[in-house]
Formats: sequence, structure tokens, C-alpha cells
Amino acid sequence: MPPILQRLQQATKMSRRKILLLVLGCSTLSLLIHQGAQLSWYPKLFPLSCPPLQDSPPRPKHMTVAFLKTHKTAGTTVQNILFRFAERHNLTVALPHPSCEHQFCYPRNFSAHFVHPATRPPHVLASHLRFDRAELQRLMPPGTVYVTILREPAAMFESLFSYYNQYCPAFRRVPNASLEAFLRAPEAYYRAGEHFAMFAHNTLAYDLGGDNERSPRDDAAYLAGLIRQVEEVFSLVMIAEYFDESLVLLRRLLAWDLDDVLYARLNARAASSRLAAIPAALARAARAWNALDAGLYDHFNATFWRRVASAGRACVEREARELREARERLLRRCFGDEPVLRPAAQIRTKQLQPWQPSRKVDIMGYDLPSGHAGPATEACLKLAMPEVQYSSYLLRKQKRRGGMRLRPEPVLDNPPPRPIRALRPGH
Ligand SMILES: *[C@@H]1O[C@H](CO)[C@@H](O)[C@H](O)[C@H]1NC(C)=O
Ligand SMILES: *[C@@H]1O[C@H](CO)[C@@H](O)[C@H](O)[C@H]1NC(C)=O
Ligand SMILES: *[C@@H]1O[C@H](CO)[C@@H](O)[C@H](O)[C@H]1NC(C)=O
Ligand SMILES: *[C@@H]1O[C@H](CO)[C@@H](O)[C@H](O)[C@H]1NC(C)=O
Repeated sequence: MPPILQRLQQATKMSRRKILLLVLGCSTLSLLIHQGAQLSWYPKLFPLSCPPLQDSPPRPKHMTVAFLKTHKTAGTTVQNILFRFAERHNLTVALPHPSCEHQFCYPRNFSAHFVHPATRPPHVLASHLRFDRAELQRLMPPGTVYVTILREPAAMFESLFSYYNQYCPAFRRVPNASLEAFLRAPEAYYRAGEHFAMFAHNTLAYDLGGDNERSPRDDAAYLAGLIRQVEEVFSLVMIAEYFDESLVLLRRLLAWDLDDVLYARLNARAASSRLAAIPAALARAARAWNALDAGLYDHFNATFWRRVASAGRACVEREARELREARERLLRRCFGDEPVLRPAAQIRTKQLQPWQPSRKVDIMGYDLPSGHAGPATEACLKLAMPEVQYSSYLLRKQKRRGGMRLRPEPVLDNPPPRPIRALRPGH
């Protein structure tokens, strides 16, 4: 064979081997990609990547929890989860003395004296208060897990502005109830120290026990110190924008079941009472005015996502999806095939009518479908029960238990508290 042909043959062999290798390489790669895709699309096929909570050794459910309920942050929904958990596990819920209304005398600094004696010593606390570390530690048993929730400050401020428009003098002074007018010149309307001023300036910082008049622009160390204090006490800071993921972290922290954190959205405004999207310039102004809250939020949002990453992002997302599916099944079972949030006027079940802050703001709720009865009814009722009714109900029940009368408290037959009352912001 002439050398030229020999070389040609060798070259062909070479390229055949190369093609073979290439084909082999490609199929391996596609297999890997496929597997990788399965890993994120069908994570159930890879249970080892996502250890279930019940792995050995099983941890008992944690039973002592203090939830700092912040304002306009989906806190009512978290409170309802905790109330229902407490009832199912026969736990005592700390409730305010009636003279404090349904919150622990907010906006005053929390004091253990605000707690109704029939509800002490508590396992669970979840009503509005202004945080005071020493007083809470005096009340709650050692080992209590502290959690709270924050919300993006511009969205939160829009919500506060709408909800407290009639109560907060700083907001009442604004012409045409215009958020834009307020944010153009907040100093023109705001007076530090007046009644309910905390609803108009750094409400998160105030609720956490901080000084809402400090500005991180003049005093960066103050913000850093506040963050440090929050981190020392709270085992988890949830983020309202990532509510389901927050509940996944919460249930993991407390070793609760997924069923323990199912919920119906409570205390939400009707779309007509809500700004669809806050214009960017307005959001910037709201964050600048509430710079302390913005600093807190940005820090704890970053912390939150680091926690999600260390728990395994795919696992958390998978659990959040399972939670949403289970929650939809539950809502359908309770409130019919098309469970819809409806305005209070359309809710026939008195115990389910949410408190309305003013004629201008519609707070929505659920209703039981007519003819609904059976063992599910009570659980469904509690799932959608607004804060005012649920707090009164729990207080009555625990007072009775304190009086050694173990007769179960009727949920449906008792005359409900009047849901629509005069000025009582904070719920
Ligand atoms: C709660 O208390 C009731 C009545 O005392 C009892 O029947 C039930 O088993 C208790 N549940 C739990 C979870 O302890
Ligand atoms: C409430 O707590 C804040 C923050 O700790 C403190 O500065 C303030 O003096 C307290 N107010 C009262 C009335 O004790
Ligand atoms: C308030 O509304 C009126 C009528 O719509 C308008 O003329 C006026 O300019 C508004 N004022 C402010 C401060 O936006
Ligand atoms: C929260 O943090 C995440 C991760 O850094 C970021 O993508 C997201 O935009 C932040 N959310 C808000 C509302 O700022």
C-alpha cells in the first residue's frame, strides 16, 4: 500500500475513533443534563438530596414559640397558624388583658402585666406588641423560640398608609389621602411622638423595640446595633414576600409537620383598596423615609436567602410547592370548589367577618358554604377566623379551663364579638 493511502486509512480510523468518542461524550452529557433536569424537576426521585425532617433521631415538635407580630406583614396569617397549632396540642396561648384590646397594649412597651392571668404561663404568644426582650423573657418559659416576619418597606408603607389612614394623624393631614403627597414632603405632615406616629415612620424598627426616629444616614452604628439585637433573640426572621418558603423554614426550625403550617390568607385588602404596583419613584421615596426599616429588611432578606441555600434551595422550593398543593386542597374542602376571598358584607358567618379599619378599606375574608356541617366545620372555621374573634374565643376557652370547667367551648353557637367596632387599629 502506498504510504499516502496508509496515512489516509490511519486518518480515517482516527476520525472514526474521534467520532465514536464524540458520540459517547455527547450521550453521556445528554444523560447528565437529563438527570440534572430530573434533579430539579422531579426532586422526589432523589430523596437523598432532600432529607426528610423525620430522619433519625426524630425531634419532638417544639412547643414554646413567641412570634413578634409586626404590622401589615401577613402577621395575622402566621398568628392564626400558631393559634390553631396551640389548640390542637392543648397549649396555652398568652392573650392580652381585655383593657389592652386584642394586642398587648400596643404601642406601649410590652410588659408581662398586659397578659391575662388565665393565660399564664404560656407556651405560645402571637399578638401585637412592642418588643421588650427582658419582659418577654420574664413571661415565656426558657427554651422559647422567637420568630418574627418582615415585609419590603415600600409595599408595607403603602399598606400602612391605606389601613391607618383614618387613625394616624400624620396620614390624616395629607390632602386627598395621597401617598404621593405624603412622600413628597413627609416632614410637613409627620410629628414625632404624637399618637400612632409609629405607623408613619419605621414601623418595623418600632415593633422590634427600636427607636424609629433614628436615621442610618446620620447613625449607621444604630442600625448595626439593632440588627445585632434582633439576631441575638430571633431564631428566624421570615420574609412576607416569600411566605411559603418562610413557613417551610419555620416548620423545619420547630420540627412541625407540613400540615401544621397550612393557612388561609387573613386580613388582606380587596384589590380595589390596594395599589396594584407601587411606582418606582414612590417606592424609592418610601424606602428613603423609612431608611431604618429598609436597612433591616435588606439585611434580613439576605440572611433569609442564605438560610434557604444552606437548607438546600431545591428542597425548600419542593416543600413550598407541597405546601401550596396541600393548602389548595384544604381550602377547597373547607370553602367549596371555588374558595374566594370576599368582602365582609358578603360573609354570612358572623365569626368569619373581618374587622374593617374604615369605610374606605375593604378587608376580605372567607365564608363557609351554606349547608356546611360536620367534623370539618370547626377546623375550617378556625382556619378563616379573623384575629379579633379568635382571640376572644381563645380567652373565653382558657378562662373556663382555668375555672376547672372542662366543657369544650362551643365555637359556632356562642354569640360572636361584634366584628366591626369603632377605632381600634392594630389588627
Ligand atoms: C388535649 O386535651 C384533650 C382533653 O383534655 C384530650 O382528649 C386530648 O388527647 C389532648 N390532646 C393532646 C394532643 O394532648
Ligand atoms: C420603651 O422602650 C424604648 C426602647 O427600649 C425606650 O427607649 C423607652 O424609654 C421605653 N419607654 C418607656 C415609657 O419605658
Ligand atoms: C386634591 O384633589 C383635587 C381635586 O381632584 C385637586 O385639584 C388638588 O390639586 C389635589 N391636591 C393635592 C395636594 O394633590
Ligand atoms: C431578597 O433577596 C433576594 C436574594 O438576594 C433578591 O433576589 C430579592 O430581590 C430580594 N427581595 C426584595 C424584595 O428585595
